[in-house]
Amino acid sequence: MKEIIILGSTGSIGKSTLEVVSELRGQFKVVGLSACENTRLLARQVRKFHPKWVAIADKEKGERFKKNFRGSLDGIFLGSEGVRTLAGKKVDLTVIALVGSAGLLPALEAIESGNDIAISNKEVLVIAGKEVMKQAKKQNVKIFPLDSEHCSIFQVIDNQKKKEIRKVILTASGGPFYNCDKNKFSSIKIRDALSHPTWKMGSKITVDCATLMNKGFEVIAAKWFFDLDWDKIDVIIHPQSIVHSLVEFVDGTVFAVLSDTDMKITIKYILTYPNRIKGSFKTIDLSKIGKLTFSRPDEGKFPALKLARLAGRAGGTKPAVLNASNEIAVKAFLEGRISFPQIWKVCGLIMKRYNLNTAQTIPDVLRADEWARMEASSIIEKL
Ligand SMILES: NC(=O)c1ccc[n+]([C@@H]2O[C@H](COP(=O)([O-])OP(=O)(O)OC[C@H]3O[C@@H](n4cnc5c(N)ncnc54)[C@H](OP(=O)(O)O)[C@@H]3O)[C@@H](O)[C@H]2O)c1
Repeated sequence: MKEIIILGSTGSIGKSTLEVVSELRGQFKVVGLSACENTRLLARQVRKFHPKWVAIADKEKGERFKKNFRGSLDGIFLGSEGVRTLAGKKVDLTVIALVGSAGLLPALEAIESGNDIAISNKEVLVIAGKEVMKQAKKQNVKIFPLDSEHCSIFQVIDNQKKKEIRKVILTASGGPFYNCDKNKFSSIKIRDALSHPTWKMGSKITVDCATLMNKGFEVIAAKWFFDLDWDKIDVIIHPQSIVHSLVEFVDGTVFAVLSDTDMKITIKYILTYPNRIKGSFKTIDLSKIGKLTFSRPDEGKFPALKLARLAGRAGGTKPAVLNASNEIAVKAFLEGRISFPQIWKVCGLIMKRYNLNTAQTIPDVLRADEWARMEASSIIEKL
């Protein structure tokens, strides 16, 4: 039985991962789980999966959990250091399903311990992809993409020669506002931004999908996951979200990966890799779907995609600055403090102001992240 730690077990990906683990009865032993605020759900997960350790990022909630917990656990670790302690435990696979830059240090800790990791938390690769992949190579650990787009590419190019790939094409649904008149962007409501047309996900990624920042982040993550030139990573709008990605080879053949919009399909593939295990998933019936449409993204209307591409190409600490600005701006939008288009306006302003693009060591990245958070907060206060 393989031992698994799930960081972010109370989130959308974390919960789906636990569902898949339950389905794969006898194949995985859950030894570690982590939450930030949702300690109630964590307690239920502990009762069901009997891990050895848990980590709770929110210290106050963690203290309360510790005081009231009646079961038996070998360790309850608190705060972001606690999440890192859990990530450093030696297991067969660590799932990084945290959100934003919170996943970076735990991911590095897991790699340092020699654990293979499955990452849905793409921001880790956005802010420090080069360093993360370098450390993974050094420790000889595998990094699996737990995102439907990257997992599709992974399935196609596994065992293929990289020089035979002409390009990879990430599909984007376009989110809820792709056809909305851009003059109406300022009056977009939070609840509308949180209703994605095809996927059910955590609130931060749902807003990132609506601005298309998520797709820009996926471009950067694809660069590091697959070690591709920037020119070989393309994006196409595909509102039905049935084709998850395409890979075009030099001979003109294009492979597309199609499936229902259910992250458990991706998670199951990664957990059971290199095997394919029968699942109780909805299969797609193309005759019912009728048509699949594709179009070029409108980067004038959705500048976040372009901002991410530029930050990725600039490299160094620029992607970390963009990510941190975006995290602060999305939080402000979700709290009703800024409007929807102000998300990318704040990010654009900070990218213009940032000119200290130093080498991309982890301390550099953390400094840039902190700077951008402060700048973004101060810009937002003045808006
Ligand atoms: N959801 C999807 O379908 C999907 C698909 C592809 C990729 N992804 C990526 O996967 C990642 C997770 O997405 P999600 O939708 O699962 O997010 P989510 O539902 O918001 O879950 C995030 C998880 O991280 C925990 N967390 C939040 N802030 C934290 C912090 N500062 N320190 C430690 N833990 C923290 C949360 O704990 P509490 O809930 O206990 O507060 C929760 O367990 C994101 O990077 C996203 O882009 C998601």
